[in-house]
Amino acid sequence: MSEEFPHPPPGILPEGTRPKVAYPESANGAEALDLPIRRARVADVEAILALVNDYAARNLMLPRGPQYLYENIRDFAVVVDEAAGGAIVACGSLHVLWEDMAEVRSLAIHPAYQNRGLGRRIVEHLKAEAARLGIRRLFTFTLSEEFFVRLGFVRKAREELPPKVWGECSRCPKYFRCDEVGMVLDLEKEER
Ligand SMILES: CC(C)(COP(=O)(O)OP(=O)(O)OC[C@H]1O[C@@H](n2cnc3c(N)ncnc32)[C@H](O)[C@@H]1OP(=O)(O)O)[C@@H](O)C(=O)NCCC(=O)NCCS
Repeated sequence: MSEEFPHPPPGILPEGTRPKVAYPESANGAEALDLPIRRARVADVEAILALVNDYAARNLMLPRGPQYLYENIRDFAVVVDEAAGGAIVACGSLHVLWEDMAEVRSLAIHPAYQNRGLGRRIVEHLKAEAARLGIRRLFTFTLSEEFFVRLGFVRKAREELPPKVWGECSRCPKYFRCDEVGMVLDLEKEER
């Protein structure tokens, strides 16, 4: 997928700015990246949209618009690469659904930064936020089942999922041909 993606992705660096370091062509097997994760700011919205919507254009995740991003900016965490001009290279969000459940949404790592632990670290960051809020279960709809299995999530049959998780589906372009799987992580079990 890396070859098909613009390098760097549009919107991540200001127009005409060249990255100070070259983006690696493939990070497979490379060392874990120790880049900082921080809560998102409104100034990050364009970069998050570019990251998420590049994957959405490939039917890998739900597209997002600026209104959704601004309204839900407090859900988001981002990873910043200062050596690449402060580029936002990964993002993810935690959206509270109900008293006992929150959804991991819009988890996206730029292709040049994949397989270096950033996806896992963002989910760990969101788990800590869920624990702080007193949330007991995390949920996600995804095509990346194996990744979430590695993080302890368990696939659930559609009929096992609570009604609250279907809220976004009516806005999804894949409504009539959904190919994503629902996965749940029980945070209380993890603590035991
Ligand atoms: C899926 C995604 C979030 C993974 O992020 P990442 O930073 O590359 O993953 P990590 O390096 O943190 O990997 C964590 C673990 O998952 C494994 N893993 C990562 N991607 C995987 C995949 N596609 N299939 C199987 N295992 C995978 C890694 O090998 C690693 O395992 P280990 O810790 O046991 O060695 C990233 O590839 C991505 O952004 N994909 C496109 C968008 C997407 O599918 N988002 C998912 C939510 S909709």
